[in-house]
Amino acid sequence: KVSFIHSRLVHLPSEVSVTSMTTREVLATRVTEALNNLFPDEESPDPQLTAATRPEFGDYQSNAALSLAKKKKMNPLQVAEEIAKHTKTDDICEQPQVAPPGFVNFTLKKEYVALLLQKMLADPQRLGIAPREKKQRVLVDFSSPNIAKEMHVGHLRSTIIGDCICRVLEFLGHDVLRINHVGDWGTQFGMLIAYLKQVKPDALIGSTTTSLGDLVEFYKAAKKKFDEDSEFQETARREVVALQAGDESSVRAWSFLCEQSRKEFQQIYDMLDVKLTERGESFYNEWLGEVCKELEDSGVAVRDEGALCIFVGGHTGRQGKAQPLIVRKSDGGFNYATTDMAAIRYRVKEDKADRILYITDAGQALHFSQVFEAAKRMGYAKPETKLEHVPFGLVQSEGGKKFKTRQGETVKLKDLLQEAVRRAEEDFRNRLQAEGREESEEYIKRVAHVIGIGAVKYADLKNNRTSNYQFSYTKMLSLQGNTAPYMLYAFARIQGIYRKGDIDLNQGHQAENVQFILDDPTELSLAKMLLQLEEMLFLLERDLKPNILCDYMFELSQRFNQFYENCPVLKAETVDLRTSRLALCKLTANTLALCLHLLGIPTLERI
Ligand code: ARG
Repeated sequence: KVSFIHSRLVHLPSEVSVTSMTTREVLATRVTEALNNLFPDEESPDPQLTAATRPEFGDYQSNAALSLAKKKKMNPLQVAEEIAKHTKTDDICEQPQVAPPGFVNFTLKKEYVALLLQKMLADPQRLGIAPREKKQRVLVDFSSPNIAKEMHVGHLRSTIIGDCICRVLEFLGHDVLRINHVGDWGTQFGMLIAYLKQVKPDALIGSTTTSLGDLVEFYKAAKKKFDEDSEFQETARREVVALQAGDESSVRAWSFLCEQSRKEFQQIYDMLDVKLTERGESFYNEWLGEVCKELEDSGVAVRDEGALCIFVGGHTGRQGKAQPLIVRKSDGGFNYATTDMAAIRYRVKEDKADRILYITDAGQALHFSQVFEAAKRMGYAKPETKLEHVPFGLVQSEGGKKFKTRQGETVKLKDLLQEAVRRAEEDFRNRLQAEGREESEEYIKRVAHVIGIGAVKYADLKNNRTSNYQFSYTKMLSLQGNTAPYMLYAFARIQGIYRKGDIDLNQGHQAENVQFILDDPTELSLAKMLLQLEEMLFLLERDLKPNILCDYMFELSQRFNQFYENCPVLKAETVDLRTSRLALCKLTANTLALCLHLLGIPTLERI
């Protein structure tokens, strides 16, 4: 635990040190100590410490008095008074205040805030946020499109949200496995392989130049034939059996189809700059039979009208309303659920995952709740393994309609992303012209890419992920409001202000010498917002909601604007004040850059 106090700077008692705990954790510990003293018979009392719910409550509040008073039949206000009196906070807080009906409110001391800012400034990479001491292995199952089918906006959301969650967990020091659970197995391959053998036989003799062109068209054509031609249906069925049995030509056809799709998916991942490890459904194929046997032998699954079923959610038979989870169909075939059971078994046993996250649309909620319950019952997941479905809502057109092209077709992701980039470029060129600025073609392309892709990501991430959101190029590319272009602009502008100051605060030791002066209310309010990043990340780590980060950035930029309106920076009255304000600019810029990075958006010098 490092103390950052220099004797020259002392405003505080020397026992104050900056610990790896967040301020909220420090205060929670202190309130708990007080509660232990006041109510020795209470077993592990909860300090109920939260961020202040209203600005007049200061920075943090404890709601513990309310429930304790109720339990002890005491006056809550009196209990609150006692807690306020017995909590040792004078090193970091002003005198705690009590508010009816029984809140204890804490306001941080300016000197303590200044000290934390110094620590942040001295650590430009991590901004004073230490990696978690308890490192978890987290497996994030995201993106996961299906071979030979359209990668649609749902997969785009999964890719964007999943990548952001991975980035945050990685930043917090966890060991993250980014897994692409591609749909590369199943009965539809019979039809696809049979069709491929008929129309592109050269693909099977290893011709590398053969291309299928539009895979989705290929899928449609195969499906059409399948629906119309009963002889072809039979061939397709035989192909499924042959593939399962490992027949060489069928496997080669299957690999060829996968390879074609993979190339298309990779183009999207490259555009988004998202890294994933492919481990598709086929990976688990060899264990499906074994898994079913284990499930049946243990009694977790039972046979019901020829199918092997798991009755979950308290339902024990057909009379129950809920559908059972079927792991083997009556024709002996395995399905999506069987693969997910085998995947959990593997992820816990082999990957040693402590936490497994599934990023898919909300429509799969029932499937995952059933799979999770079954996996716990079977012991594939340990009692302490965290299995979480991270659902998200639909992407809609403006006006809440189904997301389609004007011709009523599904929007191709590549087109969607390219259109965002194209519009961003147009906006940027217009801006350059209007402002009489010039940039190289290379830089223009870079800006267009970062803003276009960034806008799509940000527009997705800023919403509460469980709600549907309306896709609007105009809104997401606007320089005003809670958008990527606005945040990128804010970063560039604030960094520019700092640069104009022409001082170097990049070195740790220099940063430690900066004395923050927080006398203006807007300075203090900006400072406190800067210090909240760590708690925001912890919230995100728990709730997996990227909009926490977007809301935080937006509020931070608002507070910066208020500060900048009220406080001259470059023309501050004294050198110390100027340095302190420049340091606030630098911290704000660094914080925005880190947040953008965690959202998967790089920064730009000028936009
Ligand atoms: N391929 C599936 C789809 O497109 C998503 C897979 C999600 N992951 C899983 N383990 N089930 O809907």
